[in-house]
Amino acid sequence: MRAAARALRDARQVVVVTGAGMSRESGIPTFRDALTGLWARYDPQELATEAAFRRDPARVFGWYVGRWRLVRAAAPHPGYHALVALERLVPELAIVTQNVDGLHRRVGSRRVLELHGSLERFSCVDARHPFPADAVPEPAADAACEPPRCLRCGSAVRPDVVWFGEMLPERVTAEAWDLAAACQVMLVVGTSGLVQPAAQLPYIARDAGATVIEVNPAPTEVSAAAHIVCRGPAGAMLPALVAALTEGEST
Ligand code: OAD
Repeated sequence: MRAAARALRDARQVVVVTGAGMSRESGIPTFRDALTGLWARYDPQELATEAAFRRDPARVFGWYVGRWRLVRAAAPHPGYHALVALERLVPELAIVTQNVDGLHRRVGSRRVLELHGSLERFSCVDARHPFPADAVPEPAADAACEPPRCLRCGSAVRPDVVWFGEMLPERVTAEAWDLAAACQVMLVVGTSGLVQPAAQLPYIARDAGATVIEVNPAPTEVSAAAHIVCRGPAGAMLPALVAALTEGEST
């Protein structure tokens, strides 16, 4: 923790990369944790592809609207607040998240790049025309729900998340890659590092000379790229890291 705080103290630009583990202590399940992960209970090919949506739009749409409801009811844990505090302690900080839950923005982090889209936005499947979130129906929990129709072209409305086989949003991705190559410290929190291209970010930062710090209770594909590893949950480790940084500053 002291080594991590030292690296942060010397950094001008910090990038925080977050994955599903960041939200676990807010009650939002990860994807790949055994037993509790979403992909242990559901088949991603049946829920997280455009082909699945076109095959069974009501099932896929109902599942995503159910996740959106869970996210709205969730409260950001102390690790989220610690990242807001960290933003004030370093000259520049950006968060690059694979999460679609919007918790970083909700808690007040200012520079958040969403690589995999957002559960809180909707667009149509054919032309990606935006669709207002407040016009989306509210089905019972986990129930199938026929998606509304686009007001402009009439095609089905889908969540604005990146599905398997789809490209990441171009501008956001280019910005994230530039930030990774330019930062002095990259903090990687709660990701298995198994999904490309986001999994490249720690390696890009490391190759460009940054110190890579991993925060995760378990070893991952990122661990090999990390110079410093904080083994533990984000809700405890991130506040401890900010405390170590501020204690160091006052002495
Ligand atoms: P995963 O489910 O693959 O990995 C979650 C990681 O969080 C694991 O390494 C856990 O050890 C770690 N973890 C669990 N509890 C934690 C805690 N309290 N604090 C910190 N870490 C904890 O999730 P991602 O790596 O985010 O993509 O998955 C990447 C992508 O795969 C997702 O964005 C999603 C999914 O398919 C799309 O939807 C496009």
